[in-house]
This record gives sequence, C-alpha cells and structure tokens, in this order.
Amino acid sequence: MKHVLVAAASSELASEVIPKLLDGEYRIGLHYSSNKKAVEPYEEYEQVKLIQCTIAGESDCARIVDEYVEWAGSIDSIVIFLGNISCTCHWEEIEKEHLVDEYLFNAVYPFMLAKYAQRYMKEKGAGRILFVSTASVRRGGGSTTIGYGMAKAALECAVKRMARDLAPNGILVNAVAPGFFDTQFNRKRKGLTEEDVAERVAMIPLKRGGKKEEIASTVLYMLSEGAGFITGQIITVDGGDFL
Ligand SMILES: NC(=O)c1ccc[n+]([C@@H]2O[C@H](COP(=O)([O-])OP(=O)(O)OC[C@H]3O[C@@H](n4cnc5c(N)ncnc54)[C@H](OP(=O)(O)O)[C@@H]3O)[C@@H](O)[C@H]2O)c1
Repeated sequence: MKHVLVAAASSELASEVIPKLLDGEYRIGLHYSSNKKAVEPYEEYEQVKLIQCTIAGESDCARIVDEYVEWAGSIDSIVIFLGNISCTCHWEEIEKEHLVDEYLFNAVYPFMLAKYAQRYMKEKGAGRILFVSTASVRRGGGSTTIGYGMAKAALECAVKRMARDLAPNGILVNAVAPGFFDTQFNRKRKGLTEEDVAERVAMIPLKRGGKKEEIASTVLYMLSEGAGFITGQIITVDGGDFL
C-alpha cells in the first residue's frame, strides 16, 4: 500500500487523478479549501481521508501534512495542485501586493507543503514530490498573468534545487507543467470568453486543449515505479503549445 497526499485535490485538474488513485493501491489524503463538493464523493472510502484547510500561512502547510501522516502512518508521495491567479491586470499596472499574493499561492505554499512532506520521506529514505507548474513559464507567462508566471518560475527553481539535494535520500522531485486546459481556472480567473478559448486553442499545434485525463495519466506515471529514474524535471503537457 502506497501513501499519497494530494494538496488542492478539489482543483479541476485534479478531478481525474482521484479515481485513478483509487484504482491503485493507495491510501489517499485529499486536501481541499472551500470546494468540498469536489472531494465529497470519496468521503466514505476507507482508503481516503479528507483534509480541509484554507491555507493562510506556513503552519497550515505543516498541519495538512501532519494530519495526513497521523492518519495514514506514512507518506510516500505528495502531489501539489495548489495554485491561484488573483490579479489579471496588465503587468504595467500591477502592484507589489498582487505579486506577493501570486507568489504565496503559486510558489511559497506549494514549497512549504513539500518542505514538511520531505521530512517524513527522509526518515523512510524514499519519496516523490510532484508540483504543478504551468507551460506558459517557457514564454514569460502572460501579459496579464505575470505574477502567476513569475511565481511558477520560482517554483521550478525549487524543483531543481530540491531534486539535487534530496536525491541522496531517495526522494524524487519533479513538476508537471500543463499547457491550455479548458477549465474554470482559465474561464473565471483569467476571464476568458468562448471566443478567447477558440482563439487560444487555434494557437496550439495539436489544435485542441488538454484533457484532464491526460494530466491524470502523467501524474500516475510520475508516481509509478517506472518513473523511478526521473528527478528535477518539468514534464510539459501542452500539445506542443510552447515549442
Ligand atoms: N487549468 C489550466 O489550464 C492550467 C494550466 C496550467 C497550470 N495549471 C495549474 O494547475 C493547478 C490546478 O489548476 P486548476 O485549473 O485545476 O484550478 P482550480 O480548479 O481553480 O484549483 C485551484 C485549487 O487551489 C485551491 N486553493 C486556492 N486557494 C487556496 C487556499 N487559500 N488554501 C487552500 N487551497 C486553496 C483550491 O481549493 P478549493 O477549490 O477547495 O477552494 C483548488 O483546489 C494550479 O496550480 C494551476 O496553476 C492549470
């Protein structure tokens, strides 16, 4: 039995990951903040623990990891979907507070979750840490989402450092970097209309947005034995968008 904690399991991109984990031999921690509806269907499963926490500081990150380990007895992997876009003004208009906010939710708190998880993994001499970045980092983010892009770039820096430092402890650290997926994240947080979505999809070499199932398969692979020699990598899943 493997032990996996999914942070921000209530995110839309994580939705296809959960059924796949249930098919495997996993004891699963599902963290959520406000959207209990997304994880509620799994509440009765014996191998699932729901963890509610609206992260507002480092101690919340520690609490999520500790609560999971207390229940599961161990942690083999953490998958961190946590991310947010709180400001969509052009970078010429952006203010310091916006940048700080984006940095907290896209770099600092994901990093803190990993920081606390790796302490338990070190005791076992094995572990997997998988962050979720964004493929748009490759092109400097977006003009109206620069704080988000800068923060995800910082997260990718942490992937490299942590991978190098934790390799002797048998802990692999990677990130999945999705390209364009037609989710509420894009529609609501980036404020994209139907037309914007069609225009955006036309720019992708494969001429379609990604399917959530494709993120789920990538995540499951990165947790599998077969991915045991991969560390420090940013696995881009974007249909060739940022080539
Ligand atoms: N959608 C895309 O096309 C796309 C592309 C590239 C990268 N990504 C990345 O993929 C990840 C998931 O994105 P998504 O599209 O699935 O977005 P989403 O559905 O909006 O998910 C955001 C997640 O963050 C959680 N969250 C937000 N604020 C929180 C807080 N204060 N404390 C705890 N949790 C908090 C939300 O919890 P609740 O819902 O429970 O409140 C939710 O689980 C993000 O890291 C995003 O940057 C997405």
